[in-house]
Amino acid sequence: MTASARATEGERVSSVEGKRVLITGGSSGIGAAIARDLAGAGAVVGICARRTALLDAVLEECRAWSPDSRAWTVDLDDLDGIESFARTVEADFGLPDVLVNNAGVATSVPLPRITFDEVESLMRLNYLSPVRLSLAFIPAMVARGSGQILNVSSVAARVSPPTQGTYGATKAALTAFFESAAADLWGTGVTVHNVYPGLITVNDVEPDALHEGMTGLPASDVAEAVRHQLEAGTFEIYVPEEFKVTYARRAKDVGAFVEASGAYASRQLGDDLRAT
Ligand SMILES: NC(=O)c1ccc[n+]([C@@H]2O[C@H](COP(=O)([O-])OP(=O)(O)OC[C@H]3O[C@@H](n4cnc5c(N)ncnc54)[C@H](OP(=O)(O)O)[C@@H]3O)[C@@H](O)[C@H]2O)c1
Repeated sequence: MTASARATEGERVSSVEGKRVLITGGSSGIGAAIARDLAGAGAVVGICARRTALLDAVLEECRAWSPDSRAWTVDLDDLDGIESFARTVEADFGLPDVLVNNAGVATSVPLPRITFDEVESLMRLNYLSPVRLSLAFIPAMVARGSGQILNVSSVAARVSPPTQGTYGATKAALTAFFESAAADLWGTGVTVHNVYPGLITVNDVEPDALHEGMTGLPASDVAEAVRHQLEAGTFEIYVPEEFKVTYARRAKDVGAFVEASGAYASRQLGDDLRAT
């Protein structure tokens, strides 16, 4: 049932209804869940990623709710191609009302095995790419006087988990850039929103050794929280919410938190933590 059909039956209409939402990394996991959820709430979604067949499958589901939804195959690791991708989206879809910067890769590698190539490559995809895409849309959003940029960050940006320094740094950079951008954009009608998911189970992947024994939340929990965040205009949220408390506790004594993290990593990973 379309959102307008639901509305005629007296159901609540979401404020995302009719909005044009571009979601990067919409072929799987959290991005696909956000696309389905927002399309179900009546948004017109645009999804992009590299795997065309997966994108097409997600698009078909979204079109059942929101027929004007679109998909583009693109490699967002190619920074030089991002500007022209943004112009293609504007031509095919219009200037997005909402940009969801979700595409990204998580890594978990103990320090002896981290390579500089990995650091550079992850920074390109998880930080430089969403910044470049956002910069390609923000001037037109400001000229229009409206827009929302939502970044799928990670609790790794806030609590720097062991073995996730490379990954956490990319997300922390995203946070720093967009907290500052939010202030720069104050009063323009263009707003910034950051979401910090914890462990989310995607694509039936089991938790790695660091997270063994933990149960991830489904991606649909993040999607629902993101919809509420966009509707309410909340600046930042944690999924699950308890990580907000963890972050506040860490800020009181970072040294003690790092010490506890080190002990936890030793327990979970044993000799593998030091293997080269
Ligand atoms: N799962 C978690 O526990 C968790 C927790 C916190 C934050 N996050 C964040 O959530 C976001 C989504 O991750 P996920 O967990 O849903 O994993 P996922 O299922 O692997 O999704 C990653 C998405 O990013 C896309 N992507 C990756 N490289 C790309 C590239 N070069 N160009 C274009 N698209 C690319 C992938 O599509 P293609 O492969 O088709 O290109 C896919 O759609 C990431 O930013 C991740 O850091 C995840």
